[in-house]
Amino acid sequence: MTRAAHTPSEVPAATDPLHLIDVDHVRCYVGNAKQAAYFYAHTFGFQISQLADLTTGSRDEADYLLTQGNIRLMLTTPLTKDHPAAEELSLYGDGVKDVAFTVHDAVKTYEQALRNGAEPAREPRVISDANGAVTVASIKTYGRCIHTFVSRTGRYALPMVKQGAEFMPVFKHIDSPVNEHNRKHPCGLKYVDHLVGNVELGKMDHWVEWYENVLGFAMFKHFDDKDIGTQYSALMSKVMSSGNNLIKMPINEPAPGLKKSQVQEFLDWHDDTPGVQHLALRTDDELASVAELRRRGVDFLSLPDSYYDIVWDRVNTMLKKHGHDAVREDHDRIKDLGILVDADDEGYLLQLFTKPLQDRPTLFFEIICRRGSQSFGKGNFKALFEALELEQERRGNL
Ligand code: FE2
Repeated sequence: MTRAAHTPSEVPAATDPLHLIDVDHVRCYVGNAKQAAYFYAHTFGFQISQLADLTTGSRDEADYLLTQGNIRLMLTTPLTKDHPAAEELSLYGDGVKDVAFTVHDAVKTYEQALRNGAEPAREPRVISDANGAVTVASIKTYGRCIHTFVSRTGRYALPMVKQGAEFMPVFKHIDSPVNEHNRKHPCGLKYVDHLVGNVELGKMDHWVEWYENVLGFAMFKHFDDKDIGTQYSALMSKVMSSGNNLIKMPINEPAPGLKKSQVQEFLDWHDDTPGVQHLALRTDDELASVAELRRRGVDFLSLPDSYYDIVWDRVNTMLKKHGHDAVREDHDRIKDLGILVDADDEGYLLQLFTKPLQDRPTLFFEIICRRGSQSFGKGNFKALFEALELEQERRGNL
């Protein structure tokens, strides 16, 4: 494993076109946004905040903005067969289409990205009314995914949106009894910690260079198949990080094994097309979040009990070696909740992975809490792979 030093940007943030202010939103194409909104609200505690559909003047798609902490999840469903999402849904099922970044000037960012080698996806356009303006422009990344750059003024500025202002013109607020329930019983998810892409065998380095060249990202860590594998299946991963560490985007490719890699299974059910494999959502209290999510019926990957026979020794030895306190959360509750633990030289982390969120074995969520550690749970990969292989076997995909 290596860690590359981040090169501090010499350009002041406000004038650096590639300076990413925030993850503006993550857009998923789904088959039925109205129903998916209730799934994510009921199981993960999102507020169903805003809506754009026929009733608000949106004639070709319905968009539901779900919010929790600083996470904005946009669920989009096409209303006509000519909408590009209609074909993508038949090819890929529900999944992530767009990882959008808030920037100071979407047009300048877009033009800089094109100069850096990006392919355009959507030309810049301005959506405005008397309250302000939202400028969007998009570039293509792996597979059918895009990055939209979003700059906002007036009432649509991001700080206003975070306080409840409309997301952009055509959106209206909605309320639902589930929102009230979620305010009383929070799941505690704060923001997107990282977002993992699966690409084809031999393509990881291509996309690593793409994120370096086009968006000025730097390599944070990398893992090879010796780190992340069993004798049967494996993957390789490199973690790309935005210049200001706003977001980390690990990129996986399958590694050869006796049986099928989980990355290959994703590709098989995703029309052999790269895409977002999981979204890691950060919490400050893993135990409280996972307990609430389990109560709501979230389906998590389960590990054999034997995992907990060895994990404390592994983790606490590492923490002691580097002068950190032992894991402070109750060990028995961690085991009861089936949470995974890992440690490195900087501290530890708690994490847990859901099963796929739709019928295809593609997109899933990770719930992660960091106590100093900035890595991704390398020590859990082997245990996790064994659990994943069990699941793949159940699906007849191993
Ligand atoms: Fe992850």
